Amino acid sequence: MKKLENKTVFITGGLSSIGRACAIAAAKEGANIVIAEIKSFNKDKLMEGIKKENPKAIFIECDVTKYNQVQAAIEKTVNLFGTLDIVFNNVGIIDNTDKASEMTEKKWSEVINIDLNRVLNCMKHELVQMTKQKSGVIVNISSIMDKDNFVSSPYYVAAKRSVSRFIQTEALEYATQGIRINGICPGFIRAPLLTDIFIDGLAKAKELIDLYPIKRLATAAEIAEGFIFLAGNESYFISGTTLEIDDSYLEE
Ligand SMILES: NC(=O)c1ccc[n+]([C@@H]2O[C@H](COP(=O)([O-])OP(=O)(O)OC[C@H]3O[C@@H](n4cnc5c(N)ncnc54)[C@H](O)[C@@H]3O)[C@@H](O)[C@H]2O)c1
Repeated sequence: MKKLENKTVFITGGLSSIGRACAIAAAKEGANIVIAEIKSFNKDKLMEGIKKENPKAIFIECDVTKYNQVQAAIEKTVNLFGTLDIVFNNVGIIDNTDKASEMTEKKWSEVINIDLNRVLNCMKHELVQMTKQKSGVIVNISSIMDKDNFVSSPYYVAAKRSVSRFIQTEALEYATQGIRINGICPGFIRAPLLTDIFIDGLAKAKELIDLYPIKRLATAAEIAEGFIFLAGNESYFISGTTLEIDDSYLEE
């Protein structure tokens, strides 16, 4: 028996690295997949890779910062598949500004809007549906930068820490309604999000890799293993937690 057989999994930002790896892993486990994404470039080819694992996969064009678009995407999902069983709120952007005093108003708003507000927006609509069903699993992405004393990207850290805290309060709030809410805190992975570090700063990339005891970064597929665990029944008694997938980086 596959771990997510016939479950409907809704993934935001599911056409790139971590989101896409989770979509492929969930499809392999028998889930129906809904990709809610702003990006439509190359989407047919990217969707093919997911459909190869399970043909019951659809793409919905959706900007997760927009209230009405997320509401419509959830409604479309339920109309098509009947239920909203598992969601992965994954969209995020980073900003490399080092000091809060150097922030621009535009950048501050953009990072908080995508990294924090979009989680609140998605969870609002997801919880409306899951409350009706009296069941559901929510996995939000945070980051080890929530837990580390990282002196960089202050808006990103502020947003991710808020997401982790929100997971705890809402897990408690919805625990008696059959809804589990958890998070994943990945370490750095080689992904477009970190492209400037790898392409423009090879020295900085080595510095980053050296922080990991096994001297390499995680792959998106390794983050997806954690997602499948939190999405499936093996983690039935786990709610309100954030899973660090970081090769003990935080213990260094
Ligand atoms: N890459 C890392 O090293 C790393 C480490 C820790 C945490 N994270 C977190 O993991 C998540 C995914 O990171 P990634 O590296 O896979 O990112 P990515 O940039 O590769 O993918 C993000 C996807 O989200 C989509 N997207 C962006 N804005 C959107 C919007 N408004 N509405 C809908 N879709 C939108 C993009 O089109 C893209 O496909 C982020 O929240 C990030 O903060 C990443």
